[in-house]
Amino acid sequence: MNRKYLAGIAAASILTLSLTACGGSRGGGDAAAEGGSNEGAKIGVAMPTQQSERWIADGENVKSQLEELGYDVDLQFANDDIPTQISQIENMINGGVKALVVASIDGTTLTSVLDQAEAQDIPVIAYDRLINESDTVDYYTTFDNEEVGVQQATSLLTGLGILDAEGKETGEMGPFDVELFAGSPDDNNATFFWDGAMKTLKPYLDSGVLRVPSGQTEFEQAAILRWLPDTAQDRMEDLLTVGGGERLEGVLSPYDGLSIGIISALTSGGYSADELPVVTGQDAEVGSVKSIVEGEQYSTIFKDVRELGKQAVTMVDALMKGEEPEVNDTETYDNGVKVVPAYLLESQIVTVDNYEAALVETGYYTEDDLK
Ligand code: BGC
Repeated sequence: MNRKYLAGIAAASILTLSLTACGGSRGGGDAAAEGGSNEGAKIGVAMPTQQSERWIADGENVKSQLEELGYDVDLQFANDDIPTQISQIENMINGGVKALVVASIDGTTLTSVLDQAEAQDIPVIAYDRLINESDTVDYYTTFDNEEVGVQQATSLLTGLGILDAEGKETGEMGPFDVELFAGSPDDNNATFFWDGAMKTLKPYLDSGVLRVPSGQTEFEQAAILRWLPDTAQDRMEDLLTVGGGERLEGVLSPYDGLSIGIISALTSGGYSADELPVVTGQDAEVGSVKSIVEGEQYSTIFKDVRELGKQAVTMVDALMKGEEPEVNDTETYDNGVKVVPAYLLESQIVTVDNYEAALVETGYYTEDDLK
């Protein structure tokens, strides 16, 4: 994957490690407290899995940007296995990290390992996914997750012709048969995506413009544990048999990996390439962008993980210098123990109409990546 890491990194790299040991926030770094340098301070970066391109890119981005600033990085991927992630974080703490950046698998399972971090005054930044039930999470950086769900549902409505390109109603009344998928129930983001999507679809479900043949409109019914494509494929296969034989016109999918499983089930269930329903997604993964260009998947949501990485690195660097990281949301992300101060980034709907401008012209992918 030849992502080009452009201006952001160049800009980040000219930040110096000069210290402003002003104290106040937790984990100002031993070196900061002593008025020395954080050069070479070790930062632990815990990512959930390498089964999805986006997390590999996230890990690489955060690592390379931290290294540009002179930090030493312990980057680990946990293969979507909770005990593995816990022991990786434990090893990072025992290995002397000065800060942790954690994208959790299950946001509720890290409480006791993070207590160990707290005991050693190691600040913790939740990366993309909120860590729940822990007062040890100092900061959070992510995208506006509810807005991601709104965008997914909006693109479904646009793809069906209910909304036009400006988001205005066309007067198209359907009815359209759609099925709905949600993400992993242990990922705090999944309910935000679902809530954003369902609030957008509700008026059309209520009026009958959209119908769900299976009747499965609850999060618990639609959720796919651990975001597994095969589980989504199995559920889609089942839905094709319970729906009463109607031809589906749309599928709300919250993640590109699920969309691939869903499209496979549809294809083997008798839908030819030109009669596939409008299928949404998230992450602009290469396989799905290619599928969009080929006219199979309809849309994805582009979340520029270069920017997310930059934000996490900026937070770490501020903490290491004893400064307060900048946040832009202090209300949305209550983890059950506290509202975690967050920095939210914006996402973008991508279809065949704008993928070049959004993904190629911004250097996220090259034309060759998408061939
Ligand atoms: C992320 C999404 C991703 C999903 C599956 C979520 O926590 O925010 O971008 O599609 O996990 O990996």
